Amino acid sequence: MTVSKEIEKYLSDATEKLQIEKKLSVSFSNMPKLCDFQCNDCFSLAKVLGKNPYDLACKIVQNIEPNEDYIFEVARPAFINIKLTDRKLASIVNQFSKDDMGGVEKHEKSQKVILDYGGANVAKQLHAGHLRSPITGEGLKRLYRLLGDEVIADVHLGDWGLQMGLTELQLYEDGVLDYYFGKSTTKPTITLEMLNEAYPKASARKNIDLEFKKKADEWTLKIQNREQPYHEIYQEIRQVSVKEIKQNYQDLGASFDLWYGESDAEEYIGKAIQIIEDKKLARESEGALVVDVAVEGENIPIEKKDPQEIQRYKNPMPPAIIRKYNGSALYATTDIATVLMRNEMFKDVDRIEYIVDARQKTHFIQVFRVCKMAGISPPKQELIHIGYGTMNGKDGKPFKTRSGDTIKLSDVIQLLVDKASEKLKSNGVDFDRSTALKIGVGAMKFGDLINNVGKDYIFDLDKFLSFEGKTGPYIQYSVVRINSILNKIQTDQGYFFICNEDERNIIINILKLNSAYEIAYREKSLSSICSACYDLANSFSTFYNNHNILRESDIKRQKSYIALITLVKKKLEQALSVLAIEAPEKM
Ligand code: ARG
Repeated sequence: MTVSKEIEKYLSDATEKLQIEKKLSVSFSNMPKLCDFQCNDCFSLAKVLGKNPYDLACKIVQNIEPNEDYIFEVARPAFINIKLTDRKLASIVNQFSKDDMGGVEKHEKSQKVILDYGGANVAKQLHAGHLRSPITGEGLKRLYRLLGDEVIADVHLGDWGLQMGLTELQLYEDGVLDYYFGKSTTKPTITLEMLNEAYPKASARKNIDLEFKKKADEWTLKIQNREQPYHEIYQEIRQVSVKEIKQNYQDLGASFDLWYGESDAEEYIGKAIQIIEDKKLARESEGALVVDVAVEGENIPIEKKDPQEIQRYKNPMPPAIIRKYNGSALYATTDIATVLMRNEMFKDVDRIEYIVDARQKTHFIQVFRVCKMAGISPPKQELIHIGYGTMNGKDGKPFKTRSGDTIKLSDVIQLLVDKASEKLKSNGVDFDRSTALKIGVGAMKFGDLINNVGKDYIFDLDKFLSFEGKTGPYIQYSVVRINSILNKIQTDQGYFFICNEDERNIIINILKLNSAYEIAYREKSLSSICSACYDLANSFSTFYNNHNILRESDIKRQKSYIALITLVKKKLEQALSVLAIEAPEKM
């Protein structure tokens, strides 16, 4: 049982004796100097019971079972303050040290979850704006697993859309595809560079050249209908592109159980549309097939151009288009079909979560509603869009290069490696690329994850890479420091007992870190773990500065210190591993 549950048990035993039904809850103290936990419930409870709050708090505390772990005290006006005894704190350390999970408890009921993140688009190059989904998704996957959920991670590549037709058509017009159309006898090798050039060119062109756009639509449909040679070329392109995507995700430490894409849902599209039509949910509109998903009285906020502007609304929720005028499938169709596919492939899925740009909010509302209306997603299954905010440059606008181009993901990674290398060099450390990669990527991930997932934030690499403050390198450095102490010392860890206030702080921060996993689980955002991790590293640093572990002459005390810092290391490593950040050997 967690410490707060234990305290709550003492409180509820006391209220039970007083024949009060309501359960009291505790939280970490706002005034750590005074106590470790506090209960604020006496105010509201006294109101309900028509009693004086202070008297009620005193009554409850008087009725608490005597014990050696917690000291309960009433503070005016009517708080119950709880302090952990030294004995309890010591037993926590000794217990967490033995426990594989370091005191983190798995949930009683495991849920089956499909996580949809990554979502790279084939043929389009990954850029900095694509960082948040794999970073957050990987972290959530690891968190859910730690707490006992069964998680299936699916990358859900964007491999079935207009970009395929656009890219192919452009390559065709550039003469690269002559072989496939009998105009040449040598088979071309389609390279990444070709794709990186063709797609942006075609994408810009479609906006001004209607004829070209129409033709690209036709090509896309031919690919989707598996017509040759269009489909064969598509497969070629997909392969080249996916190879690079895999490398990018590997550098970011994101891994997937399923490498499916939108195209894999293709065989479920017919069936999904059939279900929707059978339920009489679809109607025709200008040649397209649509499903009305608006709910009466609903308003959709229109994004403000300027924060001062008054909030305006679109009304009502637009219908979901599930088939285009020319018969081709759309993004929404593949998402609906994918829900059907997932439910046929995996039984009893409790939740499907999508870590996708917050700007796709309307799309997901539409998709989820269609799935629920059509019974493609069972009623008790949760469909959740975890919308992440935009990563902005220092100018407050979406992160771009000076010339206004989006920055390629591979260039971002190189930049991180370069900056981390500079740092290491100036600190006089010998290092290799893998160390610089761990620090650079770790810095960026931590800098991202410490922000609540839904919020925009400023991508400031210099700040992220600082070795001081709430940064990834600071946490990594704490682990490196503990390792170096442990390497220098001959004695092994012994029984832990409390000697000073700095140790108390560390232990409370360990408890806070454990509870941060629960907060993160509820909020579906890893920021609480990052903050708690920093607080723990910081309290370790204070302890380290105030006490000379290596020169401690009292052997028992030294062994106790070692037990504590070994636990700190274990807890920090556990947190870093949830955040998918690796700690280097040295830095
Ligand atoms: N490929 C999409 C995009 O770039 C993201 C896919 C997200 N997942 C999903 N099931 N829609 O916008």
